Amino acid sequence: MLVILISIVLLAACSARDYPVDHEQLSEEERIVIRFSHVVGEETPKGLASRRFAKLVEERTDGFVEVQVFPNSFLYKDGEELDALLAGEVEMIAPATSKITSLVPEWQVMDLPFAFRTMEEVKEYIDGPAGEVLKKKLREQGISPLAFWDNGFKQMTNNERPLRNPEDFRDLQFRIMESDVLKEQFQLLGAEAKVETFDQVFSVLERQTLNAQENTFSNIVNRKVHHVQDYITVSNHGYLGYVVLMNDQFWKKLPDEVQIVILDALEEVTEWQRSLAEEVNREKYDYLSACQCIDIHELSDAERKQWEEALLPLYESFSERYGAIYIDYLPKNKR
Ligand code: LMR
Repeated sequence: MLVILISIVLLAACSARDYPVDHEQLSEEERIVIRFSHVVGEETPKGLASRRFAKLVEERTDGFVEVQVFPNSFLYKDGEELDALLAGEVEMIAPATSKITSLVPEWQVMDLPFAFRTMEEVKEYIDGPAGEVLKKKLREQGISPLAFWDNGFKQMTNNERPLRNPEDFRDLQFRIMESDVLKEQFQLLGAEAKVETFDQVFSVLERQTLNAQENTFSNIVNRKVHHVQDYITVSNHGYLGYVVLMNDQFWKKLPDEVQIVILDALEEVTEWQRSLAEEVNREKYDYLSACQCIDIHELSDAERKQWEEALLPLYESFSERYGAIYIDYLPKNKR
C-alpha cells in the first residue's frame, strides 16, 4: 500500500507542469525572459532561425519562457555582444565563430581558407573530437554553446578588378571580422585587412575607406554590398557559421524542464536552419546573377589551386600556435 501511495504522489508531482498555467497574468519578473541579441537582418538565416526558436519556446512553455530577439545590432554590435553576454546583460547571442576568437583563439580554425567544402563537413567537424575541445573551451569561459548554425561560404568582392589570381589582391583593403587568421589570409595574398563591425560594412565601402570585403551571398545582398562594389569572385574560400551561446550562470539556473524545451527547440531549428541557409544563399546568388549590378567571376579549379597554395602557410602557423589537433581533424586532411 505504501509503495502504491508513494508512486501516486511521485506521479502527481511529475505530471504537474512547472510552468504557471495562467502565464498571461504574470509580470516580466515572474516569467523567464531570454534576451537574444544578434547583428544581422531579420530575413537572413540567423534572423529567421532566432525568430523561429523564440516562437517554439514560447509555444512549448505556454508563454512562461519569453525569448525577445533583438536583430540588426539594435542592442549590441560585434565586439560588444560577447561582453554583454558575459556580463549577463543579454542571455543569448549567436555570433560568427570569428567573433569569439578574442576569447578562445582556437576557434579561428573555422576561418582557415578552404578547410571545408560543404556544410556537412562543418557539422562533422564540430560534432567530432576537435569540435568537442572547442566547445569545452567556451564552457571554461562561462558560456554554454548550445547549437551551431550555418550561414554558408564566403565570396570576395572589391572595387578594383576581378580577383582571379593571388596577384589580383595587391593594394586592396579588405573589411574583416576580428580574427588573426583572416588578417593573415589577406596579408599572404598581398592585401591589407581592417576589422570593422558588421553594421559599418556598407558605409566603409560606400565612403571608400576600404575597397573590398568577404562575406556570404546572404550577407552581401542583405547589407546591399553589391550597390557599392563592382566585382565579386565566387570563391567559397571560407566558411561562416554561428555558435549559439547562452550565459552559463543563467543556463544553469534554468529549471530542467525549461532546459529540455530550449535544447529540443534548438535541435529542431538547427536542422531546419541548415537547408534554409543553403536556400537563402542560392536565392541571393541568383539575384546577383540576374541584376546585372555586379561583375561575377567564378573561380576556376586552377585558380583555386593557386589561392590554396598561397594560403598554405596559415595551416602551419595555426598548428604551431594552437596545436595540431584542430588541423588533424579537418575534413581537408581526410580527403
Ligand atoms: C559579419 O560580420 O560579416 C558577419 O559575421 C555577420 C553575421 O553575423 O553573419
